[in-house]
Amino acid sequence: MSERLRIALTKGRLQDKSVELFEAMGLDCSPVRNPGRRLIHALPNYPLDVVLAKAPDVITYVEHGVCDLGVVGKDTILEKGGAFYEVLDLGFGRCRFALAVKKGSDFYGTYKTRRIASKYPNVTRTFFEGKGMDVDIIKIEGSVELAPILDLSDGIVDIVETGATLKENGLEPIEDVAQVSARLIVNTASMKLYKNEITDFLSRVERELGGRA
Ligand code: PRP
Repeated sequence: MSERLRIALTKGRLQDKSVELFEAMGLDCSPVRNPGRRLIHALPNYPLDVVLAKAPDVITYVEHGVCDLGVVGKDTILEKGGAFYEVLDLGFGRCRFALAVKKGSDFYGTYKTRRIASKYPNVTRTFFEGKGMDVDIIKIEGSVELAPILDLSDGIVDIVETGATLKENGLEPIEDVAQVSARLIVNTASMKLYKNEITDFLSRVERELGGRA
């Protein structure tokens, strides 16, 4: 008998794109489309239960093996790390991490230690360590663009999608830090225990993604 798999989806935009992908694969996602306040949904025509969670929690659930699979952004993977298999780039949720500063400011033109504000302190640390540059990192929870405007920081490392938020706040990207997109991750034990079920699911995803290319 085929084992039911459990997948954690990142709530919000990645959830919507994942549901579109699963429906294109022929999975009936009506329970996820009409979730009410429920956070876990059994799909009626495929042995898959869908859990809706915040991005870092998707990794936590997959790492602990309470979810076999997860859909999460590469941004969260780079920031949080963890032990799991990152098996597929799903091709949606594309954006980039960039270093941005006040328009026209000369970020590299001084010897003083720069202050960088970010929701992603680990990504920021790794980026500047790679340059051999010592920076002070200030963790901000959202609307990071405020930090340089308020003169809290010399720059930010943040997600840029259209660039509109930077532009409307008088900031400009000066360097790319990393490319980001949604990834499919798999618990390491599940990969062995439910090899057939996971292989079936992955090959359906790959077939659909291949058809889009
Ligand atoms: C993200 C990111 C930027 C914005 C980039 O913020 O932190 O602020 O989107 O998008 P754009 O390049 O298309 O303008 P989000 O909307 O997630 O809110 P937050 O800043 O409160 O985290």
